[in-house]
Amino acid sequence: MAHVLVTGAAGGIGGAIAEEFAAQGALLSLADRDPRALTSVAARLGGQAATHTADLTDPDAPSALVEAAWAGHGPVDVLVNAAGVYPSLDMLDVDAHAWDRLFAVNLRAPVLTTGAFARLAVTAGRPGAVVNISSGSALRARPGGGPYASSKAALEMATRAAALELGEHGIRVNAVSPGFVQVSSDCNPVSAEYAAAIGANPLGRPGDPRDIARAVCWIAGPDASWITGEVLRVDGGSSTGALHLPRIWQPGDTRATSLATTPAASTRPGATPLAAPSEGPTR
Ligand SMILES: NC(=O)c1ccc[n+]([C@@H]2O[C@H](COP(=O)([O-])OP(=O)(O)OC[C@H]3O[C@@H](n4cnc5c(N)ncnc54)[C@H](O)[C@@H]3O)[C@@H](O)[C@H]2O)c1
Repeated sequence: MAHVLVTGAAGGIGGAIAEEFAAQGALLSLADRDPRALTSVAARLGGQAATHTADLTDPDAPSALVEAAWAGHGPVDVLVNAAGVYPSLDMLDVDAHAWDRLFAVNLRAPVLTTGAFARLAVTAGRPGAVVNISSGSALRARPGGGPYASSKAALEMATRAAALELGEHGIRVNAVSPGFVQVSSDCNPVSAEYAAAIGANPLGRPGDPRDIARAVCWIAGPDASWITGEVLRVDGGSSTGALHLPRIWQPGDTRATSLATTPAASTRPGATPLAAPSEGPTR
């Protein structure tokens, strides 16, 4: 029976990941900073899971968590880093405290849990799998999402770097990158306006936490045993391109409209005008 440690297990996606592994017969260690929500997830799983309350912004918490899970339920086979925060934080407002807090949870904690897990696994001569939960934001910034997007882009590189180094020890490190998934979260509230705007994808239905959970179980499991350093995008195809754009011309048109005959695109007040052509090179 595999022993799986899930961080952010009290959350929408982390909770679904815990449920999916439990359904496959795994032994679970669940971690979150919210003890009440954690207890209710563990109860939903039949009370067999060990729970660990940990605030992963504490620099010592990630390695202490892995060591406690390993000591409590035996060697860990799979580590899933699902704890994450996605506050709205404009670049005009960001300060060192907010940036550091976001990066502590979204980047430093998964790197430190991975290091602690790998040290124990290597010492014990055991293989293992790590799955980091990234985000479509790693590829595409949005207003107010710059620090979050930066943390997830860095997490994807940390995933590849860890895979490169730990492969020789039989430890695979991958990421699953969800598109927008509606969860009910006090920690990460999302406005209805944002949910409506981001929801479109080629497959035409919203993401469900179980979509992410199934992908995590698969990539952590034996069917993916030759996959490492990969980022699996589970997003209904929303990262494939700009679905909201119209075609440049409709099939049946004899020719595309010439740009010269279309009305000029409006220019934002205050936009910097295109510089006039220079007289020639200056030295
Ligand atoms: N929901 C989405 O649309 C979506 C999309 C892409 C990526 N993600 C990622 O999925 C993961 C889970 O997010 P979710 O949508 O389920 O949100 P959620 O708020 O439901 O879950 C996040 C969990 O992380 C925990 N957490 C936050 N800070 C912590 C800390 N300092 N220490 C310990 N635990 C902490 C929270 O208590 C919460 O239970 C995150 O990494 C998020 O970035 C979510």
